[in-house]
Amino acid sequence: MDVKLRPLQVADAALLARLYLAERDFLAPYDPPRPESFWTAGGQRIELDLLERERGGDRLHRFLIEADGTPAGAVSVSRITRGPFQSGGLGYWVAQELNGRGVATAAIGRVCEWGFREAGLHRLEAATLTDNIGSQTVLRRNGFAEIGLSPRYLFIAGAWRDHILFAKTAEDH
Ligand SMILES: CC(C)(COP(=O)(O)OP(=O)(O)OC[C@H]1O[C@@H](n2cnc3c(N)ncnc32)[C@H](O)[C@@H]1OP(=O)(O)O)[C@@H](O)C(=O)NCCC(=O)NCCS
Repeated sequence: MDVKLRPLQVADAALLARLYLAERDFLAPYDPPRPESFWTAGGQRIELDLLERERGGDRLHRFLIEADGTPAGAVSVSRITRGPFQSGGLGYWVAQELNGRGVATAAIGRVCEWGFREAGLHRLEAATLTDNIGSQTVLRRNGFAEIGLSPRYLFIAGAWRDHILFAKTAEDH
């Protein structure tokens, strides 16, 4: 599939709410706690307003993933730290019905290109649940190296869960 990224805007609130609502059950095992408003256009507007502010401060960037021109998911680069670190953390998802077609692999390739070539980052990191083989495959295929297991790393789906940490630096891109 032809996979493109475009920066999310406040005007995408309704579209994003529809996408998240359709994937609510699929994404539940990977989600942090969210207010019930998250799955509404109004809630997404709040999220996207926050994104505008964070993007302005160069702390967070988020992109819509489009596959053959259809909205297919999202990818974010968060916790951006400059100075000697020049690092950011990836978060991503792809709609269940489009899984297994290389969409996430291509989207992570594009966000690496953006991070290392446009945003001037030196390092991108990601954390997966220990049993999220699909996500680990996507990262390995994009040249991410496994750092190791971080016990109780994130509060996901109602509990502090172990994650495997991955990172890639510009030298490996
Ligand atoms: C993880 C996720 C992004 C993968 O998206 P995707 O578009 O299906 O990924 P790709 O098609 O590029 O690659 C996934 C690969 O992993 C493989 N895979 C997926 N689940 C697997 C499993 N349980 N065991 C073995 N391989 C698996 C797929 O078959 C595919 O490999 P292939 O191309 O050889 O068939 C998607 O499933 C998703 O959004 N999951 C829920 C949210 C999430 O996990 N986000 C990441 C948090 S770290």
